[in-house]
Amino acid sequence: MKTIHIEGTDLHVSNLIMGCMRIDSLSEKELDALMHTALEQGINLFDHADIYSGGRCEELFAKAVDRNPAIRQKLYLQSKCSICGGYYDFSKEHILEATDGILKRLHTDYLDILLLHRPDPLMEPEEVASAFERLHADGKVRYFGVSNQNPMQIELLQKYTRHKLIVNQLQMSVVHTPVLDSGIAVNMTLDQSIDRTGSIYEYSRLKGMTLQAWSPFQKGFFEGPFLLDRDKYGKLNEVIDRLAQKYAVTSTAIAVAWLTRLPANVQVILGTTKPQRLIDGCAGSDISLTRQEWYEMYTAAGNTLP
Ligand SMILES: NC(=O)c1ccc[n+]([C@@H]2O[C@H](COP(=O)([O-])OP(=O)(O)OC[C@H]3O[C@@H](n4cnc5c(N)ncnc54)[C@H](OP(=O)(O)O)[C@@H]3O)[C@@H](O)[C@H]2O)c1
Repeated sequence: MKTIHIEGTDLHVSNLIMGCMRIDSLSEKELDALMHTALEQGINLFDHADIYSGGRCEELFAKAVDRNPAIRQKLYLQSKCSICGGYYDFSKEHILEATDGILKRLHTDYLDILLLHRPDPLMEPEEVASAFERLHADGKVRYFGVSNQNPMQIELLQKYTRHKLIVNQLQMSVVHTPVLDSGIAVNMTLDQSIDRTGSIYEYSRLKGMTLQAWSPFQKGFFEGPFLLDRDKYGKLNEVIDRLAQKYAVTSTAIAVAWLTRLPANVQVILGTTKPQRLIDGCAGSDISLTRQEWYEMYTAAGNTLP
């Protein structure tokens, strides 16, 4: 398993993360097996959010750690707050309260990383900065980051906080590439030339901010894995199958390798609940696709090279 250094921190973490959004579907035994597999494969960062199953995923995870306390020291914990029922909340009061809830559910005194889940246009950056200051001073959060934000939103918040925003979590996969598309087709009149992210990819590299790719196997917005959709993604799946054969891995590994090939600091969040699929995905952690292979997948997914 390849590890990366998250700039501005002492965190050396796996370039694959175990996403815990779907673990509420598992029995205790199944969850123990999944976590055991993740650790065995070298994954050391676990992604949560206070909204996953209304906090239940965090609770189930904590219980699994309590059943195997020796693993606690091997884990880095990340969670997210700010999505509430029907609105987003970056107020100081909410961030402090939500973090206390996360710590309680995760049975931990501190989080390694806290992310603000989705941007809140009503944000007062001074309030967020003040919440971060308090959480850090109280030893409750070591590092801070964001999720689903563009460069100007990050700049705005960063202006007010002395804590470097170290991570931005965004939807990224070979079939969801707005982060890259406009950069590939600058100044063209193609649909993919439309800049939907404010050049977040280039910004992240300039600022040394780590990108975490969520839903690496999903088409659309949680519309199911593209690897199973041979009607819509027939050509892409053909290319992936051929590469899987070449590298002697599964198609799951190739889908992961397409993301880890990006020279930015990228981590891929695997949301599978199946140990074997986790093992398959981990095989993609340090495969280095050639330039031609990477572009072939990009175009087979329906994108154009001008
Ligand atoms: N920041 C945000 O806004 C945000 C949003 C969404 C998610 N996230 C984070 O990102 C993580 C990953 O998201 P996700 O769960 O949507 O990602 P995902 O890994 O793309 O999707 C997981 C789902 O796809 C299935 N799947 C995965 N690989 C497959 C394969 N090779 N073949 C067939 N089916 C496959 C899994 O089924 P099985 O379980 O049966 O394998 C599971 O239902 C979440 O756990 C969460 O931590 C963050």
